[in-house]
Amino acid sequence: MKPPGWRRRWIEPGPPPARAARVSGEGCAEPAGTVGFLLCRGGQLLRAAAIEGPRLEARLLLGHVLGCRSEDLLRDPRAAVALDQARRFAALVQRRVRHEPVAYLLGEQEFWSLRFAVSPATLIPRADSETLVEAVLEAWPDRAAPLRVLDLGTGTGCLLLAVLAEYPNASGLGLDRSAAAAALAAGNARALGLAGRAHFLAADWAAPLNARFDLVLSNPPYIEAAAIPGLMPDVALHEPASALDGGADGLDAYRAIIADLPRLLAPGGRAVLELGAGQAAAVSGLARAAGLGVPGCRADLAGIPRALVVSA
Ligand SMILES: C[S@@+](CC[C@H](N)C(=O)[O-])C[C@H]1O[C@@H](n2cnc3c(N)ncnc32)[C@H](O)[C@@H]1O
Repeated sequence: MKPPGWRRRWIEPGPPPARAARVSGEGCAEPAGTVGFLLCRGGQLLRAAAIEGPRLEARLLLGHVLGCRSEDLLRDPRAAVALDQARRFAALVQRRVRHEPVAYLLGEQEFWSLRFAVSPATLIPRADSETLVEAVLEAWPDRAAPLRVLDLGTGTGCLLLAVLAEYPNASGLGLDRSAAAAALAAGNARALGLAGRAHFLAADWAAPLNARFDLVLSNPPYIEAAAIPGLMPDVALHEPASALDGGADGLDAYRAIIADLPRLLAPGGRAVLELGAGQAAAVSGLARAAGLGVPGCRADLAGIPRALVVSA
């Protein structure tokens, strides 16, 4: 038998029941235990934790638990929610209150209109990084090109797999120092039907490679180490430091990758490197110092130079 008041105490971690019953659900129109009540209460808790878009996020989390689209939840706010589902939702809200990113809670993130599984071993793919895919499409207008692609620091595999999805004759290799990330990327390739053309390895940048590529992609860690604690808590507390930390000046990974580009790029080949804000001049300088060309740089939707194109 359910204890009286369970529906109202679904998320508070242990205040005395009377107090919890008084506080929870205040201002919520629908009765306890309904979709509307859970969305309202979840939204209140997320707002109190300074989460942006708290109602929307509550809908995403409840939709995930109930296995429906978040917009469908608005149709019947008085629909009853089973206790175990309310508890699962409450647990997700509690994790979000601690700023765990929604993508980790849902286990997936969309990138280039493709769905990628994510885990705390990987950076969550960012919309800004789609600028690299756009730069590739601009550099190689022929979609039938049999490109050989290398993705350094592949994470979820999002860059490599988005490019392979656009070029049906291309094939590629994704490398990551994290074996867990390489395994996740391989799973993403299988889920997207691209496993026949995509391979993944755990490695320190391109150290084990003795091959040339038409296209080298990389979104390396590029945050200055001292700036990481000041990032928004979702990132600083939960995304892997190894995906963020670019060393004292943010450029360590570029130095390592650019040093290898002359031996990795095939004649006529190009690298497309993601840049952090304000890094275009410094990274262009590193490329030129390595004897490479810098034929272009594509800005993201905010106008920030984001995808540096480097030529052999
Ligand atoms: C900014 S994340 C990019 C992930 C993915 N490419 C994306 O765009 O979402 C950088 C990735 O580089 C990987 N990485 C960091 N240092 C590395 C190294 N020395 N060798 C290989 N990969 C490395 C991290 O594990 C992380 O997955």
